[in-house]
This record gives sequence, structure tokens and C-alpha cells, in this order.
Amino acid sequence: MTAEIIDGKALAATVREKVAGQVARLKENHQITPGLAVVLVGEDPASQVYVRSKGKQTVETGMNSYEHKLEADTPEADLLALIDTLNNDPEVHGILVQLPLPGHLDEDLVINSISPEKDVDGFHVSNVGRLGTGQKSMVPCTPLGCLMMLREHHGRLSGMDAVVIGRSNIVGKPMAQLLLGDSCTVTIAHSRTRDLPGTVRRADIVVAAVGRPQMVPGDWIKPGATVIDVGINRIAAPERGVNEDGSPKSRLVGDVDFESAAAVAGAITPVPGGVGPMTIACLLANTVTACCRANGLDEPEGLTA
Ligand code: GUN
Repeated sequence: MTAEIIDGKALAATVREKVAGQVARLKENHQITPGLAVVLVGEDPASQVYVRSKGKQTVETGMNSYEHKLEADTPEADLLALIDTLNNDPEVHGILVQLPLPGHLDEDLVINSISPEKDVDGFHVSNVGRLGTGQKSMVPCTPLGCLMMLREHHGRLSGMDAVVIGRSNIVGKPMAQLLLGDSCTVTIAHSRTRDLPGTVRRADIVVAAVGRPQMVPGDWIKPGATVIDVGINRIAAPERGVNEDGSPKSRLVGDVDFESAAAVAGAITPVPGGVGPMTIACLLANTVTACCRANGLDEPEGLTA
């Protein structure tokens, strides 16, 4: 069997079009422009790339983008003061503080200082609790993107066996909640799981979110299963030649060994071009959702869980 490729890039483009349509509606009918504030502390190169991309796509969909870049040694009180200003700014409907934060900053304290209604990452403890209890919440972007791809491919997920590999607050745990919300039978597997291959082999849906390059081989996958690969890992690719400084070229791979898994799975997301583009598309979707809720307007269908 050769798996169908789930095209995250194409679905993300569809989500962005829907977002842009809603933004146009908000501007025309209500004279409201949704606004997203992104806060970056320090100069982590990967974070800088993500933040630039988020800002660009925010503007491309017609929304306002506010970028706040702070020095790596910014005192916690200054960051909390900025978040307080953004919480009280009616032009700002979504606030995202890029993680990881420098070590001297208390990540939980910072995230929980964001107004839950503006917490487009869905990381505030109030949103985590609301998602877990089936109440209206902001839903973390990467798991939301994975859910949209699964619904797009399968329609209904009810009754399916799902295994999530990884128990992070950003992906694994909220992903499990979303799958449970769609009536899957959910297992969260992790580094201490006793029989990881056997556990994964029982799954109709596998979501790999561990951050270890190509750790899930094809022989862990049940024939016909759907595989969602959240990993984005850069590995050396000497077969591609060398850079000017003599170091080997690199390439991106997921947490799943794509070649062997694609030979067994029914459907699989590629890396790049799978989950990655969906994450930012869902951030834009969450910003529109937050803006509609803040203004007491009907929220658009199909942009949240
Ligand atoms: N760093 C890695 N992933 C994320 C994310 O989804 N949101 C934020 N704020 N930071 C991240």
C-alpha cells in the first residue's frame, strides 16, 4: 500500500482564504479590523523565523499585526507590563508570546497573565480547563491544525482508536483532548510507555509529537492507519553536498520515518508541507474567532474545534 498524502499546505491555504473572507466581512459590516500582537523575547533564530512568518501571514489576510521584540534580559515585570497593556488594548484581539522564553522568565506566570479571551495559543490554564471540560475555549494551534486535517480526510472520527505520542502541554495533551472531543478512544504514549511499538500498532490514527527525528518506523504502523507527523527536525544530509563553510547540507524530517511509514499507512502528512503550514493558519483562525467573540458577533464555522 502507498499512503495518500494529506496536503497541509493546500488545506492551510483554504483556511487562510476563509480567514481573509471573515476579515473582509468584519471590516465591511462592522468597521473592525482583527489585530494580533506577537511578543518575542530574545533572539532565538528559529523563533525569529516563526515570528516573521506569523506577522507576514497576518497582514496578508487583512489583519493588523503588532510585533513586540524585547531584549533577552528583559525583566519579568517589563514583560508583564507589556502584556497588561495589550490585554487592555481594544485593537488587539489576540496575544501570542513566542516560546521558549529565556530562563529567567517564569513561563507559566507569563502565559497566565494573558487575558484568556485573547490567548490565541490556548495555553492559559483557563483555556486548558475549558477545553478539557468541553466548554468554549481558545484551542492550541498545532493540535487544531491536526484535527482539521483528520476531519478533512475522514469526515467523522467517532469510535476510532487514536494514539498520541508525546505528552507536551503545547501538542500532546490538547491533541488528546480534541480527539476525545471527537469521540475517539485515545491513548497518550510517551518515553516511559512500556510497549510503544505494540501501542502504536493498535491505532487507526497516530499523532507523533516527540521531537525525535524519524523515531517512528513503518513497522509500528497498522496497515491503512492515518499518520499525522508533528515533528520538524533538521538533520544533516551529506548526500545533498556541503555548505560554503564545509559543513554538510541539512534537511527537515518529521518524527516519523516517512518512507517506511508511507508504504504501510493509508494516509500520512509530509514534512515539510503537512502540520507546519496548518499551525500558522490556525493562529490566524483563532485571532478571527477571538475578535468575533470580543465583539459579540457570530463566530465563523469551521475555524475552530
Ligand atoms: N513555540 C513553539 N511552538 C509554539 C506555539 O505554538 N506557540 C508559541 N507561542 N510558541 C511556540
